[in-house]
Amino acid sequence: MCYAIPGKVVEINDKIITVEYFGEQKKARNEFYNLALGEYIYAQGGLVIQRISEREALPVLESWKEMFHELAQVDKNLARETKTMYEKANAVRHKYSGNSCCVHGIIEFSNYCKHNCLYCGLRKDNKQLKRYQMEPDEIIQSAADAINLHGFKALVLQSGEDDSYTAEIMGSVVKSIMEKTPILLILSVGEKDISFYKRLYDEGARGVLLRFETSNPQLYKKMKPDSDFNKRLELIKQLRDMGYLIFTGFLAGLPGQTREDLENDIKLTTALGTDMFSFGPFIPHPQTPLANENKPSLELALNAIAKARLACPEAKILVTTSLETLDKENGAKSGLMAGGNSLMINLTPEKYRKLYEIYPQRAGTDIKVTANISRVIALLRSIGRAPTDLGI
Ligand code: 5AD
Ligand code: SF4
Repeated sequence: MCYAIPGKVVEINDKIITVEYFGEQKKARNEFYNLALGEYIYAQGGLVIQRISEREALPVLESWKEMFHELAQVDKNLARETKTMYEKANAVRHKYSGNSCCVHGIIEFSNYCKHNCLYCGLRKDNKQLKRYQMEPDEIIQSAADAINLHGFKALVLQSGEDDSYTAEIMGSVVKSIMEKTPILLILSVGEKDISFYKRLYDEGARGVLLRFETSNPQLYKKMKPDSDFNKRLELIKQLRDMGYLIFTGFLAGLPGQTREDLENDIKLTTALGTDMFSFGPFIPHPQTPLANENKPSLELALNAIAKARLACPEAKILVTTSLETLDKENGAKSGLMAGGNSLMINLTPEKYRKLYEIYPQRAGTDIKVTANISRVIALLRSIGRAPTDLGI
């Protein structure tokens, strides 16, 4: 299975096009291609990322055709129940985005960080963590493997806040990845200068993953003593205005966080014009000042997903791996059944994967990439989800 199904262009309205997937229509933004009606494209996150020939598209569509309708039926049946809040949220998800599910890959290329966030295992003062930095060529090769061997069409490049990856270095990494095969390339590298983000946008990056972490400024100050809340929000807005798709959100269950804070977290995620909600439960890390705090229940994280879905019916909501760390067997499935419609698969080279320890026992670190992909595919099939684009 690949992580996208090609769509046929059925309407063009300047930069906004309508794409059809087995009779279902979704909108997408087209900024890269001069498209004609009847052409085939891949879209990710509501953005056209590749134009493909009919000769390439038809066999992929043929291989999906029967299964797509079967999956859609499974999803429809599962979305009929509306008794609990999770079931209501799932029904809303089904109504607004059908059985589409994005599957993005993530490559964590450096675990160095100049900051000292209280909750995070990568914090500078964690001297017990073995640090690594991938060479630019290694990042490019990992991305090429993700795209060519595993079929990913959207990739997150993530690191701690590591200033040794300059705009020049990352610009050439993005350029090299994009000129071979265009994908939706998402940066998760923290608070860099606006010129850094501009340079990478010009090279083709189109997404930024930057959580605001908490909407409560006092809690923010406690949790991120060396970062400024307003500056971070301002940066997110500037990046959105620059044209980046914004992936943002918060940590659920931080010590001192109230129920009202969580409600405000969901409101702020919406108010920022977020393209993909990315939030997950806080998991205590033993080498941090929050080592002895309690981890939140799976219910707290699922409630946040369901409430976000009910507040924002059309949202794209990522089910993060921290949910699977809370409940290895059911975390991902429960999140997808409580309103979530997106997943990320860890593609960091095996020798580094365990070292990107923002919290311990991260799901997907003790399993081979191919086995992890098979596991995710089996999960998506069992609940009737398919990788058609979620649209805009
Ligand atoms: N538990 C859960 N998520 C964490 N992050 C950092 N530390 C933890 C933790 N202990 C998340 C933050 C950050 C992202 C890269 O990882 O939200 O934005
Ligand atoms: Fe660094 Fe991000 Fe971890 Fe904070 S949350 S210590 S900025 S990697």
